[in-house]
Amino acid sequence: MTPRKVVIDCDPGIDDAIGLLLAFGSPEIDVRGITVVSGNVPLGCSTRNTLQICELSGRVDMPVHPGCFRPLVRDPIRGLFSGSTGLGRLRLPAPSREPAGAHATDFLIDTIDAAIAADTTITLCSMGPLTNLGVVFRMRPDLVRGVDRLVMMGGAYREPGNRTPAAEFNMLADPHAAHIVFSSGLPITAIGLDASHQALSTPERVARIEAAAGPFSTVIGDLLRFWDRGDVDRFDGPGGPLHDPLVIAFLLRPDLFEARRARVFVEHESALALGQTVTDWYGQSGIEPNVDIVTKVDADAFYSMLAERLAGRVAIPGQ
Ligand code: RIB
Ligand code: CA
Repeated sequence: MTPRKVVIDCDPGIDDAIGLLLAFGSPEIDVRGITVVSGNVPLGCSTRNTLQICELSGRVDMPVHPGCFRPLVRDPIRGLFSGSTGLGRLRLPAPSREPAGAHATDFLIDTIDAAIAADTTITLCSMGPLTNLGVVFRMRPDLVRGVDRLVMMGGAYREPGNRTPAAEFNMLADPHAAHIVFSSGLPITAIGLDASHQALSTPERVARIEAAAGPFSTVIGDLLRFWDRGDVDRFDGPGGPLHDPLVIAFLLRPDLFEARRARVFVEHESALALGQTVTDWYGQSGIEPNVDIVTKVDADAFYSMLAERLAGRVAIPGQ
């Protein structure tokens, strides 16, 4: 089986970090590089976190390209649940290397151009605000033909938003970039709150992952326990919705997901509904559907796979 070539754009962030660990633990996926965006925490912090997670996995070979340091137009907003460092209470040694020199957008353009030149395509995975991708596809709209699919975490399609009643964080954090990406013609699979709220990291699931992770269970446990929202009323139980790893899980086991196609518009002008992913479920706009919206996830199977893949996938420095 030829591993699928992907580039991951992210804003670590606890759930981004788990998503990266899942990707590194999955031989079906060939991560060609990681691009980092301002989101949960400022760019310098999310870049450092990305380098640390790579090191944790023994992937000091992995190119890490910092990207846009702020959204295209609006002021930056930050995540609420990854703590001040972006990795909760996890404390890791300082990275032993610097990030790559090329800007994330240059790396993305060069990587997609190379795929086109080789008459193939690359899969894009995004786990944060879409600023980097918005710049890329505004600069080079022709690159759409070099991307087989964008699998992205973001949006709230039937669910209410998680940062405003209308908007999910990644869309609200850069609604203008999201508008560009959703209008680009890219084939998009959207994993929004409709999906991630079905995949809560309950104490039982966390305990199972920790047990499987053996000597590395403290790292995983620290990340996942910090992620618990403690909002039983809202989520109908303990734990936190594990958003970003679902992007990688979709690539590994698409059979665990159900989706429905629709046209999605991103509200980028309204004060009240800024960042809303307005979904034309019944074709009323008369515009061609552009997004496969994930509507259902087999959460138990997802967590079983996560436990299996994370087992032994992190190398504690010095051990
Ligand atoms: O709304 C959830 C998304 O916002 C996740 O990607 C999380 O990491 C934050 O970026
Ligand atoms: Ca994220």
